[in-house]
Amino acid sequence: MVETILEMRNVSKRFPGVQALQDVSFDVRRGEIHALVGQNGAGKSTLLKILAGIYTADTGEIVINGEQATDWGPREVLDHGVSFIYQELNLVPDMTVAQNIMLGREPKAVLGTINWRVLRQRARQALERIGDTTIDVSLPLRQLSVAQQQMVAISRALDQNPGLLVLDEPTSRLSIEEVDRLFALLDGMRAREIAVIYVSHRLEEVYRVADRVTVLRDGRRIATTPTKELPPETLVQQMIGSQVREVTQAKVVTDGQTCLAVENLTSPQVHGVSFELKRGEVLGIVGAVGAGKTEMLRLLFGIDRRSAGRILIDGQEVNIHTPPQAISTGIVLCPEDRKAQGLLLDSSVKNNITLAALRRFSLGGWFLRQRRECQHAEQMVASLRIATPSIHQLARFLSGGNQQKVVLAKWLSTESHIFLFDEPTVGVDVQGKVEIYELLQELAKQGAGVLFVTSDPEEAWAVCGRLLVMYAGHIVAELYPKEVSLDEVMFHVMGGKERDQN
Ligand SMILES: Nc1ncnc2c1ncn2[C@@H]1O[C@H](COP(=O)(O)OP(=O)(O)OP(=O)(O)O)[C@@H](O)[C@H]1O
Ligand SMILES: [Mg+2]
Repeated sequence: MVETILEMRNVSKRFPGVQALQDVSFDVRRGEIHALVGQNGAGKSTLLKILAGIYTADTGEIVINGEQATDWGPREVLDHGVSFIYQELNLVPDMTVAQNIMLGREPKAVLGTINWRVLRQRARQALERIGDTTIDVSLPLRQLSVAQQQMVAISRALDQNPGLLVLDEPTSRLSIEEVDRLFALLDGMRAREIAVIYVSHRLEEVYRVADRVTVLRDGRRIATTPTKELPPETLVQQMIGSQVREVTQAKVVTDGQTCLAVENLTSPQVHGVSFELKRGEVLGIVGAVGAGKTEMLRLLFGIDRRSAGRILIDGQEVNIHTPPQAISTGIVLCPEDRKAQGLLLDSSVKNNITLAALRRFSLGGWFLRQRRECQHAEQMVASLRIATPSIHQLARFLSGGNQQKVVLAKWLSTESHIFLFDEPTVGVDVQGKVEIYELLQELAKQGAGVLFVTSDPEEAWAVCGRLLVMYAGHIVAELYPKEVSLDEVMFHVMGGKERDQN
């Protein structure tokens, strides 16, 4: 007997300037993991927010567990056993971990006040259930790493005992071990007949967990297929409507001049890191989440204090102890937490893109400047394929992946000669990633030094001429992708251990 837990029929939704969904039908069976995939802006999050009762569909019907749910609000949907982990997490940074996990379900004491002791205890149990014993539940959420915050969101959703769990890109910020742990949990849920909707841009994950795959493209449903019957090439073709372009393998190792040299950079998390970056080079720094990559960049950019170490630019030692000092020496950093650190949600796409490069547009009168800014923004929107009705759209209204691309465009637009990119492709779709790789290589070709920091060994291996592997705060290997296999890179990323596949 096949039992359908969710049915969405002929759902359409229009936003000003975009038909986000057009006549989409989608169903989920009890105990299945159903992947929802598609390019940035395809309509995935919109469909899920309609399911959640956050947006109302223009037309269409929703049936949850046999009940008419089309007009339900968020509370009713939750009360009927549907839990969500949103792309933008929606946790409360100033509340404690425990409060976040138990939000809306706080245990009460006799007089109706919150029983804090029980609340913390339940929160700890919720985390233990997903295999985490390290997070201190009385800390404010703000103090947690991005990966830890993601685990908090997962434990909260699972603790609500859902019959249907919706995960919108849950793994984009997790380490390999945490992803393995999440997948083990999902397998357990399947065994308990809990259904899962799973949004991801990582196709290998889709093949690892999903029973069926639904592809959205430009707001339409293209196909729903059992994963076993769908070759990866066909899936990609369904997503982008044509063949994906390969990364132009510019695995060149330049003999350009050293533009950045780092000697013995040291802090509590970073242990004596030294390396050189050359002009014309895309140097990869690869390591698992938590290996110290972001911490190293923060020292280099003057956000955190180093306890030892020298930084040399074009052979001269420079004094970098604050970000403005770093910028004045010609370094820019495109941070990992772009939502918090890079994007003005209530500014237009154009203003976000040109913000960090105003000097470049400063010549001439107002009219001329505006025109140049617009031209430049149009150009970036086209080359990164940012899906937006116009460059004047507010950043808030773009899909998650397209917001990422806007911030990236902003840093690509600055006239610097040393670029530090921290996880620039997280949340970006297959085709968009290729375009970002090409832009990084283009920057290098124009003579810049590009540091490409990533936790994805595969992209590091495909894109960079040279790779440094970080593990536990140390640089543990220097590798040339031309000479080594991807497996060898993986091996070093895992700290010199074979990966445990179980
Ligand atoms: N509140 C909104 N107002 C206006 N337009 C919106 C709004 N929310 C989404 N859109 C637009 O609807 C389209 C679909 O967006 P959606 O967020 O569903 O994409 P997605 O498939 O989740 O993409 P991603 O992989 O980047 O997260 C996009 O063109 C987006 O810009
Ligand atoms: Mg989305």
